[in-house]
Amino acid sequence: MDREYFEIRNGRLLFDGCDLLQLAKEYGTPVYIYSQNVITDRIREMKAAFSEGHPQNRIAYASKAFACKAMFKLMEKEGVCIDVVSGGELYTAVKAGFPAERIEFNGNNKSQAEIDLAVEHGIGRIIIDSLLELEMIEKAAAKKGRVMNVLFRITPGVKADTHDYVVTGKKDSKFGIPLDDDRILPYVKMAVESKWVNVLGLHFHIGSQIFENTAFLAAMDAAFAVADKIHEYCGYWIEELNIGGGFGARYTGEQKKPFSFFLDPMIRKAEQFASERGIKVPALVTEPGRSFSAEAGITLYTIGSIKEVRGIRTYAAIDGGMFENIRPALYGAKYEAVSVSKPELPADKTVSICGKCCESGDMIIKDALLADPQPGDVIAVLSTGAYGYSMASNYNRNPVPGVLFVKDGKAEWAVKPQTYEDIAALDLIPESLR
Ligand code: LLP
Repeated sequence: MDREYFEIRNGRLLFDGCDLLQLAKEYGTPVYIYSQNVITDRIREMKAAFSEGHPQNRIAYASKAFACKAMFKLMEKEGVCIDVVSGGELYTAVKAGFPAERIEFNGNNKSQAEIDLAVEHGIGRIIIDSLLELEMIEKAAAKKGRVMNVLFRITPGVKADTHDYVVTGKKDSKFGIPLDDDRILPYVKMAVESKWVNVLGLHFHIGSQIFENTAFLAAMDAAFAVADKIHEYCGYWIEELNIGGGFGARYTGEQKKPFSFFLDPMIRKAEQFASERGIKVPALVTEPGRSFSAEAGITLYTIGSIKEVRGIRTYAAIDGGMFENIRPALYGAKYEAVSVSKPELPADKTVSICGKCCESGDMIIKDALLADPQPGDVIAVLSTGAYGYSMASNYNRNPVPGVLFVKDGKAEWAVKPQTYEDIAALDLIPESLR
């Protein structure tokens, strides 16, 4: 198989040194499996392209792609920062012992309680996404007596070439502060003059699963144009520019670009911006989510019923489905599967791999190629590591599968599988119904 950390040894399929059929037997299916080596390789690749030789640049893993305490621990060990977008992600990171000063907080509608939590823990940066937020941060900071670092998220008005649901940088967006009427300028000035916030610069995120660098560069031009206006308006030069995430990952046959393809020209652009103005090169920050976690994760399933609808298609139903991977139903996302039970047989049977939810749209892979699929076979769906577990639900009251971390032949639980008891744990029977 031409996938990293997969190999066939003695007729068995291994992922990061672990025998997948053995894992399915020992831990049950469905189960999410993450290769620590794939994740750390990605991080090291980005560090080499981005921060080595440019010590001011930082990586902040976008934890929305996949978050749990173990993932935060791994990020801590690898020396990267993290981006959180909710009180829940922030709480989990802090509970995992992640250093608060390396946390940055994004989100288009942070509540006062979430901002209070961020200030309470003294996190590294809050990315202001609306003009209402500055006041909320000042209020929390004054109460705690702690100055908070902030950046302003702008809507750069560029459209990345990707799925409409994951485009965020175009003009018509709920994210960021629109730029057309310069309304951002008085707010940045207010923030620069505020004794409770320390303005570091600007942030943009243009979308997800992007394979071209042109939209990133156009967004940088837009950000630097705002930086010039800010300087003209209140004499302040940005020190930091957060360029978001969105670097494409491989699901099926995509031709993935190395991180340097995106980052080299962006680093050069930042240097040019600074040298033309005679100022310090602004620190660049990335927020990769999918590109760190997608290919690191796979999901193991067991095939149950196989139904042939003559002349139309054959359905192979698995023990998972849209409750643990909503992406095919939500975005028409494409995946590939391999047979774990028969890794050496040719994958020459076309079946549609459907889930067990009560929805016709619960199809994980339409027209997948598998080796002789039979009830009881274990299969692996590949590249499920981003926005799978993190978007899972209890639809049809199905328990969310557990997460195994694997590395060099060793497997350990990172998240235990949910039980029926867990699902019903918060339910109450109101007095009026007893
Ligand atoms: N930074 C910000 C501010 C973001 O909004 C996002 C993703 C990222 C970074 C990370 O982007 P990435 O590197 O993962 O592409 N649920 C969708 C993806 C939604 C992305 C939302 N924001 C999916 O499953 O495709």
